[in-house]
Amino acid sequence: MYSGQVKKVLISENDIQSKIKEIAAEINKEYAGKQPILIGILKGAFVFLADLSRELTVPHSVDFMDVSSYGEDVKTSGIVKIEKDIDRSVAGEDVILVDDIIDTGLTMTYISDYLQNHKPASVRICSLLSKPSRRVVEVKSDFLGFEIPDEFVIGYGLGHKGLYRNLKYIAILDEKYY
Ligand code: IMP
Ligand code: MG
Repeated sequence: MYSGQVKKVLISENDIQSKIKEIAAEINKEYAGKQPILIGILKGAFVFLADLSRELTVPHSVDFMDVSSYGEDVKTSGIVKIEKDIDRSVAGEDVILVDDIIDTGLTMTYISDYLQNHKPASVRICSLLSKPSRRVVEVKSDFLGFEIPDEFVIGYGLGHKGLYRNLKYIAILDEKYY
């Protein structure tokens, strides 16, 4: 599968799965007696959210949002366009935003601010990966898997030109395929 296109495996399937168990244990503890709603940011979050959800023992519901950037402006303005909104209001709910990676932080910041307008009880952020060196706005990831260097990564939900999302590990894509 995708032979020759992977330059280097950065995080193995095993390491991802054990990290998800750790994150799930934290969430189970912190949300005991509550019923959070997990909101995944499409498309990248779908694999991580599916595995995380099945490791959780706290009852929870799942929803999704999809966003796209307004042209080139996103890096400076941080304005993103909501392509798919949540299905029902999160007023009074404990929200956990789930994404594959926090890069500049603009997407998470926008979505988190947007959801605050719905008056949720709480909003916390859960991301499998983070590239801290790329941050434009500060984001507090309450539940984080791995910090990675500034490399374009693929796999485990993360795609490039629509491909590679099904890889079970996180890898660096060979530049030839950019
Ligand atoms: P941010 O708004 O810059 O934080 O962008 C976050 C989004 O950019 C993530 O949800 C990913 O969809 C995408 N992204 C950022 N870095 C990568 C990467 O290395 N590989 C694939 N997608 C990425
Ligand atoms: Mg994304």
